[in-house]
Amino acid sequence: MTEIENRLPADHFDRALAADVRAGLSARPKTLPPKWFYDAEGSRLFERITELAEYYPTRAEAEILRTRAAELAGLTGARTLVELGSGSSEKTRLLLDALGEHGSLREFVPLDVSESALREAAEKIAIDYPGLGVHGVVGDFATDLGGLPGAAPRMLVFLGGTIGNLEPPARAEFLAGLRSVLEPGEWLLLGTDLVKDPAVLVPAYADAAGVTAEFNRNVLRVVNRELGADFEPESFEHHAVWDPDREWIEMRLRARRPMRVRIAGLGLDVEFAEGEELRTEVSAKFRRAGIEAELGAAGFTPVRYWTDREQRFAVTLARRA
Ligand code: SAH
Ligand code: AVI
Repeated sequence: MTEIENRLPADHFDRALAADVRAGLSARPKTLPPKWFYDAEGSRLFERITELAEYYPTRAEAEILRTRAAELAGLTGARTLVELGSGSSEKTRLLLDALGEHGSLREFVPLDVSESALREAAEKIAIDYPGLGVHGVVGDFATDLGGLPGAAPRMLVFLGGTIGNLEPPARAEFLAGLRSVLEPGEWLLLGTDLVKDPAVLVPAYADAAGVTAEFNRNVLRVVNRELGADFEPESFEHHAVWDPDREWIEMRLRARRPMRVRIAGLGLDVEFAEGEELRTEVSAKFRRAGIEAELGAAGFTPVRYWTDREQRFAVTLARRA
């Protein structure tokens, strides 16, 4: 049985995108939040990224889940699996399989801001897992977590390293919010990419085939379509930069020439100098001590910490205190 609930307001694109674009393009340096990458095309481009030779996180996290899923099922006995930023939910099948075999799982609740990705994933999973209740939620994981369905004990899973796309203050607020929607003793499973050699990190965000560049420029296409802007995406060059102090990758779009962009829906003109950069995403990389400290500060007790064999990526199981 599949049910899809839409928690985004009808004017999500007009109001929320408009506010983010107005604020971000008036800031110095200019920024746009990464959640706007993910229209149907952005979600497809992200799936292509996960298949690139340079983009190791998906494969590394899948290796961990494959190795640890049975142990995880035994430890948690989860009846409900809630997945935030679920996308295609491909890796999540490893968890559904293990929890199914363990016999505890009743319901799967994927939540994503990308309606197309969510519907496609939820429908496929409902077909492949007959007997599992699938309750999809189209929503924003920063604001739409109240009253999630499903019997206890629930396990919230947040995979892919998406937590790294939040900056530290937003991360702390987000984790505290997760704690407040869980009951004591319920579970959080968190995927985090780890700090490593920039010679490995940077190509993961600047692949030779240019798929990440297209993913990055897609945010301009979304703003063009939704707010009647006239960005020329090809006039912006993709850059991925490692910041060794903040230990994150920044994705930027650099203007190839001076430009004036009209955003008709906002009645706004925005000037770009030649070489000026628009920051579209941070992707923070973590260390074990930092992950455990952030979880502890939000009211979670880390219970297990697993990495892949090459120690590129970590999955942490934590319990709501
Ligand atoms: N979990 C999947 C997908 C990661 S891509 C994996 O590990 O491969 C990030 C996903 O988070 C996308 O599907 C995107 O649509 C979603 N997303 C990004 N910002 C979001 C937000 N604020 N609220 C809900 N979903 C969001
Ligand atoms: C979804 N998120 C974890 C991806 C990341 O690696 O930060 C998004 C991405 N950006 C560029 N490539 C992939």
